[in-house]
Amino acid sequence: MPDPIHRIDGNAIAASLVAELKAEVAALPPPRPCIAFVRVGEDPASVSYVAKKDRTAAEIGMETRLHVLPDAVGEEELFAVIDALNADPLVHGILVQAPLPPHLDEVRTFRRVSPLKDVDGFHSENLGKLCQEDDAGFVACTPAGIMELLARESLDLAGLHVVVLGRSLIVGKPVGLLALQKKPLANATVTFCHSRTRDLPAITRQADVLIAAIGRPRFVTAEMIKPGAVVIDVGINRIADPSRKSGSRLVGDVDFAAVAPLASKITPVPGGVGPMTVAMLMKNTLKARRLAGS
Ligand code: GUN
Repeated sequence: MPDPIHRIDGNAIAASLVAELKAEVAALPPPRPCIAFVRVGEDPASVSYVAKKDRTAAEIGMETRLHVLPDAVGEEELFAVIDALNADPLVHGILVQAPLPPHLDEVRTFRRVSPLKDVDGFHSENLGKLCQEDDAGFVACTPAGIMELLARESLDLAGLHVVVLGRSLIVGKPVGLLALQKKPLANATVTFCHSRTRDLPAITRQADVLIAAIGRPRFVTAEMIKPGAVVIDVGINRIADPSRKSGSRLVGDVDFAAVAPLASKITPVPGGVGPMTVAMLMKNTLKARRLAGS
């Protein structure tokens, strides 16, 4: 029997984007696009995400730099590293991996990165440009990746109800703004839900497209879904699994086994949104290199 579940294959879509970017980078005159990663501490998830971004950049033919700072680093020292990267003409993009340790202020840190090198799209200037629908800015990679996935699945959001579960700076807010834009494939009606939302299932059941970005393993259950909805799972949560050799496995914010049979399309975890985040970071870095002109 054919598999009735329509998985959106983020690995395949990201791989084709990466191949397109590789060809574009190869056609550029020197210098090669260069992205600098700043990682604070040794959080295992951050170590693995930065390593993946670094590998993909190298695969595309980009230069990479990695700055690893101790967990206890002060703001002054962190900002000195960012300032030096801002001033370096051979560095086109800068990414400070989140989350930062609690003594460091993430928003102040994101604002320290030059808006012209802010390939994460977290600087106030780039968030402002997103609100103003000014394409000259940088859009955060996970939200941009979700829009790219939907576009490549030929899904036009015009008039559809997109419900965003989560209001983070990194995913929830920017993805809602992107879906809302007065642009081809967007024009959605958008609702943001969060931990204080009353009767959450009543709202999520209205979603034509549900974007789950709250970081709670398998939070979205079948009762929260309208049959036929498109479900985008942004969660990457590690849970204990004694049946695995590693003792753990990754799950999303959506209870995939229960929700997938109801959804018209759904992203798996892993292999859905995650690879798109990396691909869009590469796209932003190429854009930063083109902006710099050299
Ligand atoms: N942590 C989780 N997602 C992201 C991201 O897109 N960029 C950065 N800098 N940190 C993250």
